[in-house]
Amino acid sequence: MDKPFIVALDFSSKEEVWSFLQLFSDTSLFLKVGMELYFQEGPTIIDELKQRGHHIFLDLKLHDIPHTVKRAMKGLAKLGVDLVNVHASGGCAMMRAAVEGLEEGTPPGMKRPRCIAVTQLTSTNERMLHDELLIDRTMNETVLHYAKLAYDNGLDGVVCSAKEVPLLRATFGSSFITVTPGIRFADDQADDQVRIVTPNQAKQRGTNYIVIGRSITKAHDPYAAYERLKQEWDGGQ
Ligand code: C5P
Repeated sequence: MDKPFIVALDFSSKEEVWSFLQLFSDTSLFLKVGMELYFQEGPTIIDELKQRGHHIFLDLKLHDIPHTVKRAMKGLAKLGVDLVNVHASGGCAMMRAAVEGLEEGTPPGMKRPRCIAVTQLTSTNERMLHDELLIDRTMNETVLHYAKLAYDNGLDGVVCSAKEVPLLRATFGSSFITVTPGIRFADDQADDQVRIVTPNQAKQRGTNYIVIGRSITKAHDPYAAYERLKQEWDGGQ
């Protein structure tokens, strides 16, 4: 998990995945498999990606009763992925159950997948927080509170917007990882994302990993877009 860039494989079939990855020749990437791809292709896609040398963030955002989450995580741990996640809003017992399930399911000699919690989706803004979720706090207070629940219950980090990373760093230190979607190049569309930043802004804020999807997958030249991402991260805009 050394690369700070996680490319979201938001495709619905293996064929689309292979034609996308062909553009990167043999480069080993850190890839995010989400619901769209996993629900179509199942565990075999994970195995095939791993055999090609890629690292995997399995982004299924579990949110259910603790018993169900524990058993689901036990199964996911067997896939040998690097990173999985839950929604922090599932509560403390559910988050502890997720980690227990991963520990039980990790085969001997393998490292247990790291488990992170989604604080608030990067497509959520303050108005939605107040009017739809009836949360009467600011976004920062809410993200900080959910992150504290994750931290106190043994999770390895959180998914949040890069905008919130400095606050989380100051509170939980550098070993609690932050994974931040909502990344766009300065000249990109926001699409359905709301709390967005550029790759370099995310780096300046101290994030560990950025998740980037459409800015690469839908680019005219995805390989060039990935190279631009690396350049901007290393000191561009
Ligand atoms: O295309 P885009 O860069 O917006 O893709 C972002 C990816 O990150 C999507 O796969 C989305 O499901 C995921 N994600 C997110 N916000 C979160 C957690 C995951 O956008 N809080």
